[in-house]
Amino acid sequence: GGAGDLLGRRIVVSAGPTYEDLDPVRYVGNRSSGKMGFAIAAAAARRGAEVTLVAGPVHLPTPAGVHRVDVRSAAQLRDAVLAALPADAYIGAAAVADYAPRTVADNKIKKSADTLTLELVRTPDTLAEVAASKSRPRCVVGFAAETENVEGHARDKLRKKNLDLIAANRVGLAGSGFESDDNALTVYSADAARELGPAPKTRLADQLLDLIAERL
Ligand code: PMT
Repeated sequence: GGAGDLLGRRIVVSAGPTYEDLDPVRYVGNRSSGKMGFAIAAAAARRGAEVTLVAGPVHLPTPAGVHRVDVRSAAQLRDAVLAALPADAYIGAAAVADYAPRTVADNKIKKSADTLTLELVRTPDTLAEVAASKSRPRCVVGFAAETENVEGHARDKLRKKNLDLIAANRVGLAGSGFESDDNALTVYSADAARELGPAPKTRLADQLLDLIAERL
């Protein structure tokens, strides 16, 4: 894959964590720097695609030529991603919170008792919704961040969410997963598995886009 091979393609990428507010000063969130998703958005734009990057709260500059939409919560991420369709590909690199506090307190919650119980409710699953939508992109790519049984959990998500590809990475180890500049991915489709890396996220982004470009 290389220069200009994604010319004319529309690609939507999500990146970063989501923060689910508890009160005006606290949130429940995921660990994610946004580096993986930003690298994919940057590489896709370099290769000629028209890229919308839906970004959770991260401290990264907007890659050249990329249209960026900033969001905070899983619900906002869903709305921004669906609003960016139709597209040829959706790549869900965001670490979306699966649960959010049932209610957001108007004022800072005061400490009194020794324990505090939070009630959390499921957030919308953007990846599954994109894959089931009327304007389904031809290539829907998920990520799977796992600490164990990486292949089993990744293949489960591939099937249950009706994805074309899923890029699995191990998290909780140095040199891969969140925050690091490097990562290692195993990309599963229904009938194949490809090992990418370990390598810098910038290089993995191009290698993942090679697999996506074959399907567009
Ligand atoms: O951001 P970095 O620091 O560079 O780290 C990169 C990364 C580890 C965050 C990235 O490579 C990664 O694995 N992203 C997905 C993290 C994740 O939350 O995976 P998951 O297995 O919980 O979710 C599976 C898929 O469903 C993901 O594509 C996710 O975007 C999507 N999802 C999950 C929940 C939800 N409510 N909506 C979703 O769309």
